[in-house]
Amino acid sequence: MLDGKKILYSGMQATGTLTLGNYLGALKNWVNMPDEYECLYGVMDLHSLTLRQVPAEFRKNARSLYALYVAAGLDPEKNCIYYQSHVSAHAELSWLLSCFTYMGELQRMTQFKDKAAKHADNINAGLFTYPVLMAADILLYQSDVVPVGVDQKQHLEITRDIAQRFNAIYGDVFTIPEAYIGKAGAKIMSLQEPERKMSKSDENANATIYLLDDKDTIIRKFKRAVTDSGSEICYREDKPGISNLIDIYSSVTGCGREDVEREFDGKGYGEFKLAVGEAVAAELEPLQKRYKELMADKEYIDRVIKMNDEKAAYYAGKTLRKVQKKLGLTERIR
Ligand code: TRP
Repeated sequence: MLDGKKILYSGMQATGTLTLGNYLGALKNWVNMPDEYECLYGVMDLHSLTLRQVPAEFRKNARSLYALYVAAGLDPEKNCIYYQSHVSAHAELSWLLSCFTYMGELQRMTQFKDKAAKHADNINAGLFTYPVLMAADILLYQSDVVPVGVDQKQHLEITRDIAQRFNAIYGDVFTIPEAYIGKAGAKIMSLQEPERKMSKSDENANATIYLLDDKDTIIRKFKRAVTDSGSEICYREDKPGISNLIDIYSSVTGCGREDVEREFDGKGYGEFKLAVGEAVAAELEPLQKRYKELMADKEYIDRVIKMNDEKAAYYAGKTLRKVQKKLGLTERIR
């Protein structure tokens, strides 16, 4: 609890370019959170290192993610947006927590199993202890709520388990965080294989809308989106392609699913796809404009990074010192 507000914590990995799925499923919903919560959002660059990165590209991506957070409407004066790697307490707490995490627990993580299968040539220890670092991220700020997608829920569960285990031994050191289940942050699916989640790393470029795609590209990708047999615009489980487009249109325009069905009643797939493409392009246009301005304003971005890094380090440091003391590590002589 900070200034009487509950603390909300989240973040994204600093790899690749964000997709429409990241935006509609998360980022867009974060914008109004500061009214209710004290919000912290990390650029999770340490987590990105579990896969091999090209240094220059990686640095650029992390900066781009920072600017996208701001361009999407997260005010860096109201939200603490910072680089995970700039607050060394994350790595330090992660070590301490790893001594309270069991191998068996980490072995059960489905994301570890998936990633290990996908990157069999680089199953590094970081990939294995990834959830411990994530627990450190969350617990350092005494976070109350953590908005995460379903794929991260298991990591939030283990975070709670680690925190409870620690508290049971040392007293109330950590706040036990809850998953934040917001108003349906839409789950956006691939435009080519609508049974799968839209992903940054899809090999088929037509499957994914990137936040920085230009209008023509967006419209072209929607025109090529895989749809189902039949011709009706209706939301049905056996019509994953059209249902996904309805979800996208509905989360961009704010209309409900039924409204969308009514609006396009009697119209064909082609017309609908074009409308979705245009609505998405119109939604992203101001974000892209703001993004370009921000990327050109080095001074501003540097200033808010520095300010927020310091703010984050202050809160994180407090928790870390408390943990060190509880564990019996010798205090520094000042
Ligand atoms: N693992 C998260 C993801 O890939 C990113 C992340 C790292 C995160 N630390 C976090 C999300 C802490 C929420 C809270 O999506």
